[in-house]
Amino acid sequence: MPKCLIVYFSQTGSTARAGERIATGLRGSGFDVKVCNIKDEKPPDVHSYDVLGIGSPVYAFKPPLNVCDYVSSLPDLAGKPAFVFLTHGTHRFNAADSIRGELLRKKAKEAGYFHCRGADFYLQYLRLGYLFSAGHPTAEELASAETFGREIAKRVQDGQRPTASREHAPPLIYRFERLTFSRWLSTWVHCRLFRVDVKKCNACGLCMAHCPVGNITESKAGHPVWGRNCLLCLMCEMECPEEAIISLQSSSVFRLFIQYNVRKASHDPSIPHARVTHRRGRTIRTDSTRSLSE
Ligand SMILES: Cc1cc2nc3c(=O)[nH]c(=O)nc-3n(C[C@H](O)[C@H](O)[C@H](O)COP(=O)(O)O)c2cc1C
Ligand code: SF4
Ligand code: SF4
Repeated sequence: MPKCLIVYFSQTGSTARAGERIATGLRGSGFDVKVCNIKDEKPPDVHSYDVLGIGSPVYAFKPPLNVCDYVSSLPDLAGKPAFVFLTHGTHRFNAADSIRGELLRKKAKEAGYFHCRGADFYLQYLRLGYLFSAGHPTAEELASAETFGREIAKRVQDGQRPTASREHAPPLIYRFERLTFSRWLSTWVHCRLFRVDVKKCNACGLCMAHCPVGNITESKAGHPVWGRNCLLCLMCEMECPEEAIISLQSSSVFRLFIQYNVRKASHDPSIPHARVTHRRGRTIRTDSTRSLSE
């Protein structure tokens, strides 16, 4: 039985759901599939598998740093078929290209690329009252993911190659925003500027528990202390029930970009959204303004 390894990162579940359905498609075509979320476990050795799949959300128009790290750490893939899937809340642009390019550099054989929407729990958008792509991936998108899995199986078994098309690069303003999520800025600027208001912090530990990369440790008093390995996902700030965390992304410099993004995305008829409030670690839907699957 051919073996496929699907490695993805999923913080809020959308990429996981897409990955599971791709796996269902592959299993239905006779593949033995191992699915692994890098947030929860170390992926097994890729050499034991015939096909590799990489799944990722889009963070600031590119894959998050932990996905980039995993793909760069892969050994020479010596012609192994590999596919990529993304979930995204607003614009993905050419976010998949860095993964697809790196896989080709590792001598993988491109087997396919799939993308669909995933509910966008980016804290700063929630604070402005918008949950983009609420209710995604939909049942139809998940059915397409399963079909994609079957297509991959067929392509691998028949030795066919897909037509490899690349996507558009983002416009200048989004490219600039992408730069603000660079590893260098994350390590040397964002990580140093996380602050906790110790008068508000009740030492509940939720920020630590929700960090997908274990970047937060506890001070003697139980308050969070940030390390230098941050994805900039803002999950720590988002989950804090006391609203005690302040990050650089909450500053007025970032606010201008965030307001621009929200204005553009909320007026784009191709991007569904729901109206929400986000308070004390909880997101509550207040209405739905576009066709939603929920
Ligand atoms: C920090 C952060 C940045 C994001 N940036 C983008 C983006 O640039 N473009 C986009 O389409 N979606 C963006 N999203 C939305 C996620 O890519 C999308 O919701 C994805 O489906 C989440 O996957 P998950 O549920 O598997 O974690 C962002 C989300 C977060 C938390
Ligand atoms: S989640 Fe908030 S209240 Fe809880 S430990 Fe972290 S900063 Fe403190
Ligand atoms: S933003 Fe917070 S939760 Fe996300 S990786 Fe950085 S420290 Fe961890």
